[in-house]
Amino acid sequence: MKVTIIGTGYVGLVTGACLAEVGNEVFCLDLDQNKVDLLNNGVIPIHEAGLEELVVRNHASGRLIFSSDIAASVHHGDIQFIAVGTPPDQDGAADLQHVFAAARSIGQHMHDFKVVVDKSTVPVGTASRVQEVILEQLTARGTRIDFAVVSNPEFLKEGAAVEDFMRPDRIVIGCDDTPEGQRARSMMKQLYSPFNRNRERTFWMDVRSAEFTKYAANAMLATRISFMNELANLADKVGVDIEAVRHGIGSDPRIGYSFLYAGCGYGGSCFPKDVQALRHTAAQYDHRMQILQAVAEVNERQRHVLGRKIIQRFGDDLGKRHFAIWGLAFKPNTDDMRHAPSRALLRQLLKHGASVAVYDPVAMNEARRALADDFAEMPSLLEQIRFCDSAAEALQDADALAIVTEWKAFRSPDLNQIKSLLKEPVIFDGRNLFEPWAMANAGIEYHGIGRTAINRT
Ligand SMILES: NC(=O)c1ccc[n+]([C@@H]2O[C@H](COP(=O)([O-])OP(=O)(O)OC[C@H]3O[C@@H](n4cnc5c(N)ncnc54)[C@H](O)[C@@H]3O)[C@@H](O)[C@H]2O)c1
Repeated sequence: MKVTIIGTGYVGLVTGACLAEVGNEVFCLDLDQNKVDLLNNGVIPIHEAGLEELVVRNHASGRLIFSSDIAASVHHGDIQFIAVGTPPDQDGAADLQHVFAAARSIGQHMHDFKVVVDKSTVPVGTASRVQEVILEQLTARGTRIDFAVVSNPEFLKEGAAVEDFMRPDRIVIGCDDTPEGQRARSMMKQLYSPFNRNRERTFWMDVRSAEFTKYAANAMLATRISFMNELANLADKVGVDIEAVRHGIGSDPRIGYSFLYAGCGYGGSCFPKDVQALRHTAAQYDHRMQILQAVAEVNERQRHVLGRKIIQRFGDDLGKRHFAIWGLAFKPNTDDMRHAPSRALLRQLLKHGASVAVYDPVAMNEARRALADDFAEMPSLLEQIRFCDSAAEALQDADALAIVTEWKAFRSPDLNQIKSLLKEPVIFDGRNLFEPWAMANAGIEYHGIGRTAINRT
């Protein structure tokens, strides 16, 4: 099938590459000419396992095109995916300007039936507004061309995006009951049939419910994280091991083990903004989402938990202190620094006068960019950050090590090396990678999240 993807970011590029891989002719549009040039030269602008291979192979075969030519992109695809960013605006609502710009372009350039697919995460009611925007353009052109707008939110996880797209848990598609909607439904069914071969994974529903499902999923996941973090903070006070508790409750199939880890808060481009946007939608309907308000507040506090523990241990004035930070990306297997908890920790430590040496296995370039933004108005603080080429280099002469991202490479470190390189053997573990008793046996002072109980098992 002929498919256009508008917006070639994390979601758009993965969607485009995976749809090309199963035989479709895919046109990826992006307004960022630099990104288009990189992709045309075989350079993948994001780190995502398995993506480079897919992009290079399908680009070489001619099934995957990258361009900034809007008219050509509209002309190409019978199915037009909108996969542009929907960042929060000043009020916390999803900023839909890029979605509507994409819709306008479609309305301006289309000449035949199009299925327009909202793949970006967008609030309930957006598909109707996209429909209006396209209609306005057609009316301005004095023409009438049939089209349908469907909702197909994306559930891929960064770090496992290709695998998730190729073998999805579920495919959610919202279509309406009009003849155009039903025509769109059969085209979407055909498009996704390669991903439904093993079993049917598609949930068909009305458009608004599909839009809502994406927010509900992220809100639920964020809630589980904040719930565990809240328990972990109490566990620290009452001398309970939150990891033991996690096993104790996760074994209940009604609860399950996933997304029950205490830590230094969630980040990334999705959870923070989607929780905020859903609360904003509720407010528009005069409805207060009390749980989600607490979820967001708990997370905001949790992003500072490591910094607080460090200040408690070393004092308010960190002027003569130097810390090693392992892990900068918001989660492992990605270089995405959007809302990464590491940024909150760095800000806290640097503002208290500390210097830091940082290391991440893949996010160093993204981190340089993100931190230059964070400290654009405080360049002297930026100078307090040393970017290192290895985990060991970051440890050199630091007063303590703080772990922010649970990269596999950090899970089984050389404890003797850590002890010999740090000034003092102290670890602040924002992801509970280690057992407190093992650290005690190794002679390391260990501060996890919710792990103050002396665990001798
Ligand atoms: N990143 C994720 O893990 C993830 C997962 C599921 C859903 N989502 C949702 O998918 C959407 C996209 O997220 P992302 O992380 O891929 O964003 P992103 O910022 O990585 O990519 C968006 C791209 O769209 C381009 N763009 C903006 N306006 C455009 C226009 N009018 N025409 C063409 N290109 C345009 C930008 O240049 C950018 O390259 C968001 O709504 C997000 O919430 C993201």
